[in-house]
Amino acid sequence: MNQIFETIIRTYLEDGVGRSSEFIPRTLGSELKNILVQYLSMNHFIEAGIGLHQDYQKDANVRRDRIQWLEQDSQNNFEKEFFLLIDSFMLYLNQTCYAGITNYEFHYTLYEKGSFYRKHLDQFSENSSRVFSMIMYLNEDWKEGDGGELVVYQESNERIIEPKIGTMIFFNSAKLFHEVLETNVPRMSITGWLRRD
Ligand code: OGA
Ligand code: NI
Repeated sequence: MNQIFETIIRTYLEDGVGRSSEFIPRTLGSELKNILVQYLSMNHFIEAGIGLHQDYQKDANVRRDRIQWLEQDSQNNFEKEFFLLIDSFMLYLNQTCYAGITNYEFHYTLYEKGSFYRKHLDQFSENSSRVFSMIMYLNEDWKEGDGGELVVYQESNERIIEPKIGTMIFFNSAKLFHEVLETNVPRMSITGWLRRD
């Protein structure tokens, strides 16, 4: 496991976008995707908003995705396994990089066909507790033409990331501008933030 964490941290330090294709084991990824689909069929998902409190708004011109928060005290074995992974990554970051993470939050995310999320940062202007963003894709047979790629904007280039199951992305919530291109098929993921509160 530590080797996987090291890869994420090394790629993050190298070019600002940490990456792993092993962080979420494939079987766990499939099970989490099944849970997402199950929540959807129960109509649990809500429209995602932008900003906090009084700034809260649902601007369909900026983002069109729907979310379902994961409960940290879930009794579901796969969600428990997910949080154990997050716990150990958080501990590793704190011990090896003095990241000072105290907390986290994660949600399932669905982008329906035609959805996108325009270029943005993940940190709210009035609240800086989100330190790192993590995205774990759950799309089992994503192929070119399906759309929904993540674009990350860096000083001199743009990087395109395909939202394929297995791929995990890790970046600085306050610094890295990114965008979700319009998807042509339903696009599923778990998105979350490591926080310093
Ligand atoms: C977000 C976000 C990117 C993605 O939820 O803030 O930018 O690839 N997600 O899902
Ligand atoms: Ni974002």
